Amino acid sequence: MNKYEALMSKCIKNAYKAKGSTKTNPLVGAAVLDNNNVYYGIHEKYGFAHAEVNAINNAGNKAMGSELLVTLEPCSTHGKTPPCVEKIINAGIKKVYVGVLDVNPKHAGKGISILKNAGIQVEYGILSKESSLLIEDFIKYHTKKLPYVTLKTAVSLDGKIAAYTGDSKWITCEKSRQYVHKLRGFSDAVITGVGTVLADNPLMTNRVYKKLNQPARVILDSFLKTPVEANIIESVNISPVIIYTSKNIDNKKADILKKKNVEIIEIDEYNGFLDLESVLKSLYNKGFMNVLVESGSKVNGSFFDNMLVDRVEFFTAPKIIGGENAVSAIGGRGISCMNDAFVFKSSTVKKCGDDVHISARITDYTKDVIEFTNNFKVE
Ligand SMILES: NC(=O)c1ccc[n+]([C@@H]2O[C@H](COP(=O)([O-])OP(=O)(O)OC[C@H]3O[C@@H](n4cnc5c(N)ncnc54)[C@H](OP(=O)(O)O)[C@@H]3O)[C@@H](O)[C@H]2O)c1
Repeated sequence: MNKYEALMSKCIKNAYKAKGSTKTNPLVGAAVLDNNNVYYGIHEKYGFAHAEVNAINNAGNKAMGSELLVTLEPCSTHGKTPPCVEKIINAGIKKVYVGVLDVNPKHAGKGISILKNAGIQVEYGILSKESSLLIEDFIKYHTKKLPYVTLKTAVSLDGKIAAYTGDSKWITCEKSRQYVHKLRGFSDAVITGVGTVLADNPLMTNRVYKKLNQPARVILDSFLKTPVEANIIESVNISPVIIYTSKNIDNKKADILKKKNVEIIEIDEYNGFLDLESVLKSLYNKGFMNVLVESGSKVNGSFFDNMLVDRVEFFTAPKIIGGENAVSAIGGRGISCMNDAFVFKSSTVKKCGDDVHISARITDYTKDVIEFTNNFKVE
């Protein structure tokens, strides 16, 4: 790894610290390099200054004639903040090193062109794989027009999520359960099925990581069976509650829920269940970039059957539950032959208290961005 790759790696690591605070904005890290002094910056929060602006501000007058590294192409349009390319040009930066180009069509390649045309040297594609992994949710959001879907489950060693009686408290240890609050804090919405609402009466809020996001709660409930006094409904003041339901619902119940400020959205069905792609499209239209599926066997199974899962977070406890009638983590139809099994693109395995935490990517949105970055030429 050369000097610039090592610095870019540090910028990427720094950028991850803002996970859960940037909403639909990407995670971005930057550094100004003035001889041997380094001034870092990250995009900390949605609506706040971008990473390169923070790095330049930290460098102060040392930015003049220095080099800048940034994990993502600097923006070139006015959004919540002025364009970063202006700041870079005005600061007198002489060379910019970029991780990957922006997939957002408003920016794609434009920032690079503006900098080059202003006489600044630009190199791009520095640690492009790692830089694009940092923003995989953002890439999917802009290229597929759908939220990035993470599915979390807490299982016993034999893959069960409850005993045959339905009892499920608790399978995993305290530390794993705390970590789930962090996953909620990284998400714009938590999706659950009415089966889980009826069985566990959960809140599905982030009650541990106060600086992270408080996600909206989404219930998949075709017949509005969610009790009006359910904990999720009663806590609507903490974060919004949306129920996706079928088109043949009891209007009286819908009215009671609406009066409690619950949003009811009727959606098409597919194979006897609510159409999950329509649900995700609707959540995309609400500006949700990251959703966490925290459901029972049926909803989990449907997400896999419809190939809608991007990432899994499995917490596996050193326990055996057993029982033919005890539900397993992923229901649905499943695959018919091993060749069709979902294979991880990459994974990490760590101990979490007494449990094993497997975090794994199923989809890969980095390829197109790396290719676009590598093939981009300034006209
Ligand atoms: N260990 C864990 O991590 C964990 C997490 C959550 C839950 N659980 C356990 O899971 C058990 C509940 O599992 P479950 O399978 O009954 O509940 P679920 O998956 O949470 O909910 C299933 C229900 O959701 C509705 N639904 C709407 N659209 C759907 C779709 N596209 N696909 C599938 N279902 C859809 C269906 O009811 P309608 O037809 O009425 O709409 C379905 O019966 C409980 O024992 C709970 O404790 C464990």
